[in-house]
Amino acid sequence: MTISNEKPFIAGNWKMHKLIPEAVDMVKALKEASAQLTDAEIVVIPPYTMLSEVRKTIEGSSVQLGAQNLFWEEKGAFTGEISPLMLKDAGCQYVTIGHSERRQYFGETDETVNKKVKAALAHELTPIMCIGESLEEREQSKTIEKVETQINSGLEGLGKEEMRLIVIAYEPIWAIGTGVTATPTQAEEVHSFIREKLAEKYGNEIASYAIILYGGSVKPDNTYSLLKENNINGALVGGASLEADSFIQITKEAIKAYKEKK
Ligand code: PGA
Repeated sequence: MTISNEKPFIAGNWKMHKLIPEAVDMVKALKEASAQLTDAEIVVIPPYTMLSEVRKTIEGSSVQLGAQNLFWEEKGAFTGEISPLMLKDAGCQYVTIGHSERRQYFGETDETVNKKVKAALAHELTPIMCIGESLEEREQSKTIEKVETQINSGLEGLGKEEMRLIVIAYEPIWAIGTGVTATPTQAEEVHSFIREKLAEKYGNEIASYAIILYGGSVKPDNTYSLLKENNINGALVGGASLEADSFIQITKEAIKAYKEKK
């Protein structure tokens, strides 16, 4: 599925939260609201155990489903892993890859990210590839260098046609779950660098359609100012995506910002 940034893209990463009944309640409310939110792409990214129930609940609405991770093999003796085939089977269209928590706690590297991006694409799943610098790297003025390395290695071996199918999420690690958001100017600086980098690698047309999300303490009250920036096409939301009300509010703010910047 070719991506385009004509509408804001709002994805809710639930991380390791919720049990099935809560998940179903949340997406029921979201499904109901989604009829009024067709000017945004909305994706929920629950833990694996809830994918199936969530899929059933959102059926018939514009809400889409994603998973938080995958393994690159289709099947085999890989205890505890989930394959791209299984995610398709569960009804997923998206998968986050290389989230900083996976890099930090579960040994994810730029190399495994690249393998996973390729595996997702091979199975027609849209990868949401996450990149971003630590506080230390920012303080040492290494943000751009870090992001550039992550883009180059994460996308290694991928051509123009494949780049049309990949979403990128810039998530400064120091802003994730901390309540400290990057200012719109700080975020835009990195987003515009990412778009320039994509233009250099894949040409202007592909870069201009690319979806580049911001993630890190996105809340209803900061969404508008972030999404007003030229190169911010949406948000990857953690904490504030757990409650239907705040997630819906974020989506509304995103739609408003997008309309105004057109
Ligand atoms: P947060 O998480 O919104 O809770 O900061 C964002 C993310 O990790 O994707």
